[in-house]
Amino acid sequence: SGPDTVSPTGQPTGADQARFAQSGSYLTNAQGTRLPDTDHSLKAGPRGPVLLQDHHLREKVMHFDHERIPERVVHARGAAAHGVFQSYGTAASVTKAAFLAEEEETPVFVRFSTVLGSRGSSDTVRDTRGFATKFYTSEGVFDLVGNNMPVFFIQDAIKFPDIIHAGKPHPDREIPQAQSAHDTFWDFVTLHTEATHHTLWNMSDRGIPRSYRTMEGFGVHTFRLVAADGGTTLVKFHWKPKLGVHSLVWEEAQIINGVDPDFHRRDLADAIEAGAYPQWELGIQTFPDTPDQTFEGIDLLDPTNLVPEELAPVRPVGLLTLNRNPSNFFAETEQVAFHVGHLVPGIDITDDPLLAGRLFSYLDTQITRLGGPNFPQLPINRPHAPVNDMLRDGLHQTAVHRGVAPYRPNSLDGGCPFTAGADTGAYIESPVRVPEATKVREAPESFADHFSQPRRFWLSMSPVEREHIIGAYTFELSKCYEQAIRERALQVLANIDPALCAEVAAGLGLPAPEPTVPLADVAPSPALSQVGQSWPTD
Ligand code: HEM
Repeated sequence: SGPDTVSPTGQPTGADQARFAQSGSYLTNAQGTRLPDTDHSLKAGPRGPVLLQDHHLREKVMHFDHERIPERVVHARGAAAHGVFQSYGTAASVTKAAFLAEEEETPVFVRFSTVLGSRGSSDTVRDTRGFATKFYTSEGVFDLVGNNMPVFFIQDAIKFPDIIHAGKPHPDREIPQAQSAHDTFWDFVTLHTEATHHTLWNMSDRGIPRSYRTMEGFGVHTFRLVAADGGTTLVKFHWKPKLGVHSLVWEEAQIINGVDPDFHRRDLADAIEAGAYPQWELGIQTFPDTPDQTFEGIDLLDPTNLVPEELAPVRPVGLLTLNRNPSNFFAETEQVAFHVGHLVPGIDITDDPLLAGRLFSYLDTQITRLGGPNFPQLPINRPHAPVNDMLRDGLHQTAVHRGVAPYRPNSLDGGCPFTAGADTGAYIESPVRVPEATKVREAPESFADHFSQPRRFWLSMSPVEREHIIGAYTFELSKCYEQAIRERALQVLANIDPALCAEVAAGLGLPAPEPTVPLADVAPSPALSQVGQSWPTD
């Protein structure tokens, strides 16, 4: 589409000028003044010194000097696309969120990412993948900031800086870049055994997806849905790829790392450009909102737990289609700011202590990353619903606010009268009872079982998936320098399953320890095996 506003000479003007940079018939400086030459500095003679008075040279180089912004502290490397979410309207009985309850079409922006590597790292490393979706709903922005694995390493956000410090490259040598094969990672996950489940997912084929288009996505935490009648339901969100779930094998991943480090990024962009639009169905697992917030003995506030689909089926509620590539990586993919606190009426949070920390962390980091508090005004972050806030001024303020009374009620500006009932339909926290309690720094007893769920995952794998898991643990642990860490990792594996431990121990040339916990009697969950999901769903 052409510029909205065009000058008599055919130049886009105003805000459009920036959007259509390089489209004008003549070159200007940042102030719109025509320039005759941008290839030569102003000098005292052709071989003489460059003059300090060259204001164009200074502007051009100054701007270049400030092109980079800090990369995300995690999930720095990503790729994104625009699309639409078509709701089936099937969630109406459990949520009043219009974009789910009605058969509405909602614009979306989705960013996929690796977690640990820096912005320029390779795509096909063994890592968790981010799957973050911004829904520009008619009731405000809703962000579903999830991963391609349904569980997380830790149960309390206060440990997040620690697990990330352990997973990022060693502070002395800055290696390894973006892979889990190093001492600090294994040191952490074997000393904090709540990480066992997520680590097992990482060592499975899920850690090396074939494509972003063939990954599942998960909201991980349990959220709370609020229906029109005020009734509440606990929920876990799932994205199911229409192409099925597919992974690389380790040898492929390693070769691709060298041959095409942009493999996933290229695959997503090429598919969309070719009209092969990737699609995911959004599904929900719902649970009664009971005071103990458990389901079939599973603590729903513990993000290291999943609920097997055999116990709570995933009900489809809408279809996501990615159909447009970003036109500017920096403006869209880099400047997009997701936040688990971007919620709409009908979707609320629970007391998951990991979620609580995230509610603080995202806004906080974005103030640094995006240079001040006004990043919601960046085009990619702007809600499509009307905004009538009372936030004013600040670094990089681009709005020219009208009126004199940014407070309410007020008797000066017509736009903000206090009208009883005017806020009907607004975001209202669900009136959940907070337990009477004493201040403590401790985890509940129900967070203490770190091995039953990993055991269920292991027992659900097909023979070839098990072979890959054994290979992954053996490879990654063989890269540790510290023997004691390898031995501790084997102890963790013995507590998942002695057969898994024995195979990895043999590969490492170490004795296999006995389990130190009773092995849980858990039924396999066929839905966890990728084999059952490796074909298109229609
Ligand atoms: C970024 C997911 C836990 C802090 C991200 C992104 C995803 C994500 C997908 C990338 C967003 C993008 O593409 O821009 C998750 C999931 C978690 C989790 C699924 C657990 C269930 C945490 C915790 C913290 C945290 C516990 C901190 C206490 C951050 C930060 C960023 C980030 C600081 C960078 C955000 C930015 O610069 O815009 N996370 N995360 N995350 N996450 Fe998390």
